Amino acid sequence: MRRITVFRIYLCALFLLSLPIVLAAVAAWQPPSQPKTTVIAHRGASGHAPEHTLSSYRLAARMNADYIEVDVRATKDGKLVALHDATLARTTNVETVYPHRSPWRVSDFSLRELKKLDAGSWFDPRFAGECVPTLDEVVRMLKAERVNVPLYVETKQPGIERAVARLLQKHGVLQRGSVMFQSFHPESLQALRPLIPRGVPLIQLVGEKEARSGRDELLQQIAVYADGIGLPLPAVTEEWVRAAHGRGLMVHVYTVNEPHDLARLCAMGVDGVFTDYPDRPGRIAACRRLPRH
Ligand code: G3P
Ligand code: CA
Repeated sequence: MRRITVFRIYLCALFLLSLPIVLAAVAAWQPPSQPKTTVIAHRGASGHAPEHTLSSYRLAARMNADYIEVDVRATKDGKLVALHDATLARTTNVETVYPHRSPWRVSDFSLRELKKLDAGSWFDPRFAGECVPTLDEVVRMLKAERVNVPLYVETKQPGIERAVARLLQKHGVLQRGSVMFQSFHPESLQALRPLIPRGVPLIQLVGEKEARSGRDELLQQIAVYADGIGLPLPAVTEEWVRAAHGRGLMVHVYTVNEPHDLARLCAMGVDGVFTDYPDRPGRIAACRRLPRH
């Protein structure tokens, strides 16, 4: 058989043998994608279930949130609970159960008293019987249900940092990739820094008024102790994002629920969005990929 024919047969065989590998490589090839926008379930999936309840956190995980936001406060007896407001009136039936304890501050009630409250019916009767969870119960539930979604903990009051760090440490989740911290109180983030391992991000939240006064000075201050800034939606501009990134700070925006706002912010290059609807960003192309600056 002429040499050239043998060579051709050899080439064909080589091609056929390598075809599956080539096809697998093509299938696995992904265009050089940009990091997707981090989706933070604001108070859990609080657009679908009562905020800061185990149902809300469970749903956030089911909706593929990248982080579950937990606002943390302390009860009278120093127990850490997941709650946004300083008082219980908006999200529980405290006025009915303890009519004479106005203004129903969380810090005026023991955990035992709090556990008698219904934290679900105000949102929808379907959630009647949901309770105010402790931070310990939140971490235990996520573990027990094998939900591997990191927490984004907000210290709502200074002075609880050591207790929060100790509790998360106890559960083995005080590490990079398992938790991120945020606060409106700079002193709270500064108190956290020595208590947490390197690489666990600290995000300084700012209000709208603050965001509108002196951007560069504010960013300079924040860059000293934090890894990012939490900006309110109305205050976010391209300039803000560029300036923060220029100082190596992540930009997380709260609270972004409308699809047009989500698309606009993702296209702007923000790093993360707090949303009550963690199921929405995934449906927006811009939030799955970011244009290169
Ligand atoms: O942490 C972002 C956002 O949650 C801050 O506002 O009032 O919802 O805790 P707030
Ligand atoms: Ca919060």
